[in-house]
Amino acid sequence: MLGAGTDFDRLLAEARRDVDANFREHGNAQFANMIRLTGFDREWARADGALLFDAEGREYVDCIAGYAVHAIGRSHPDMIAALCDALRSGQPQWVQFERNPLAALLAKRLCARAPAALKHVFFSNSGTEAIECALKLARRATGRSAVLHCDMAFHGLTLGSLAANGNPKLREGFGPLGDSECIPFDDLPALEQALASRRFSAFLVEPVQGKSCHAASERFLSEAARLCSRAGTLLIVDEVQTGIGRTGRFLAVEHDPNCEPDIIVLSKALAGGFVPVGATLVTKKVWDKTFDSMSRALVHASTFQSGVLAMTAGLMTLEIHDRENLSGRTETLGNQLRNDFERLARQHRVIGAVRGRGLMLGVSLRKSSAENLLASLPVIGSLEELAFGQAFVMEMLATHAVLCQVTESHTNILKFTPPLVVREPECARVVAALDATCRKLSSGVSASVRGALHAVRNACFTPTSDPSESKERIV
Ligand SMILES: Cc1ncc(COP(=O)(O)O)c(C=O)c1O
Repeated sequence: MLGAGTDFDRLLAEARRDVDANFREHGNAQFANMIRLTGFDREWARADGALLFDAEGREYVDCIAGYAVHAIGRSHPDMIAALCDALRSGQPQWVQFERNPLAALLAKRLCARAPAALKHVFFSNSGTEAIECALKLARRATGRSAVLHCDMAFHGLTLGSLAANGNPKLREGFGPLGDSECIPFDDLPALEQALASRRFSAFLVEPVQGKSCHAASERFLSEAARLCSRAGTLLIVDEVQTGIGRTGRFLAVEHDPNCEPDIIVLSKALAGGFVPVGATLVTKKVWDKTFDSMSRALVHASTFQSGVLAMTAGLMTLEIHDRENLSGRTETLGNQLRNDFERLARQHRVIGAVRGRGLMLGVSLRKSSAENLLASLPVIGSLEELAFGQAFVMEMLATHAVLCQVTESHTNILKFTPPLVVREPECARVVAALDATCRKLSSGVSASVRGALHAVRNACFTPTSDPSESKERIV
């Protein structure tokens, strides 16, 4: 809260004064345009569990959760206390030439929860860095450089991860990328056929695709592990988004207990959303191929790996996960939410299907024949494509104070990833909001036209840091 007179309050107040100009001139102006048109450019004042509050005191249910990082909620008192204690303790970090005790303990505790063969952990600072580590170690262990990935896969946007990205739009203009090949998701025959070339270091796959919430079928991962092992290819399971309880198990691979991956990658919720972190869990056999002599002890390393705050937050996240049975409640609440969404799908033609697992759910939206006609027209068609799903996102936000999203790869899938501490009445608010939104947007004028009008209205009001002036924008 502002006004307490701390340095932080002073800096934040100064930052807010010219936020729009500063962001546009020195940051990403296109992103500023996007959040303005969609109505997301609010001033966020505080958070509590799964709730966000804007400067006017309006309460929102946050079903984006910082792209699924805030599993334990944004204001967990035990986490805040542990991080403040860590800062105040004076414990030096990044001494570099030390056996980092917090990192060693977190590695041990993560391995104890992972499939038995995973014994070593490399910590980094983001999902994509953790994927880069996995790709490097797989290259070294197999002596091969190509990577096999899935259609519409997302593993991050640095160059190595981008080579395994399944969305051509995101790769465009950044080539040439590393050697890679794309197969359909959840398709064992296609996997077997591709592996036969024996040129892949790794098959990199998400248990539930983050962009579409499409979950792999029941025994896909264990069968994939078997096929990969036969072909001398490593199986890397990307649990950056699904890990730490998101699907109703600590790791999503637990849904398929016979799956023995060579590498599992974690990030996002691992440090509770309080500190950036990434973790690459690796078998001893693969690890030892890279770190095979003292002279190679630092062939893969990073200055900011294993910071005191990140490691403390990781350890606290595991304790909070267990104490509050976050995986168990995620399974229960996720099933309830899914049932409620499926009930809405039976009531509203505009809902096509409900996908996902646990509290990682996607609701696919179906266009009317008039909207399909619009989508087939040149120029208007591409605007239609953009505006259709966004119309639902904007209505959920503006009228019902629920944050959800569509992704750049799947503009017709509404994605819900609330914090795992979300409460039943908050889930009920989300269901009621979707019900009302579907009713409103599937009657009369097309959803995309409504979305476009909404965007124009948002654009007509200048962003301001004065709450009294911005009131009219929230209609
Ligand atoms: C499955 C998956 N892998 C990797 C990443 C990349 O993580 P980051 O954005 O931290 O680089 C993401 C990010 O959304 C993800 O969902």
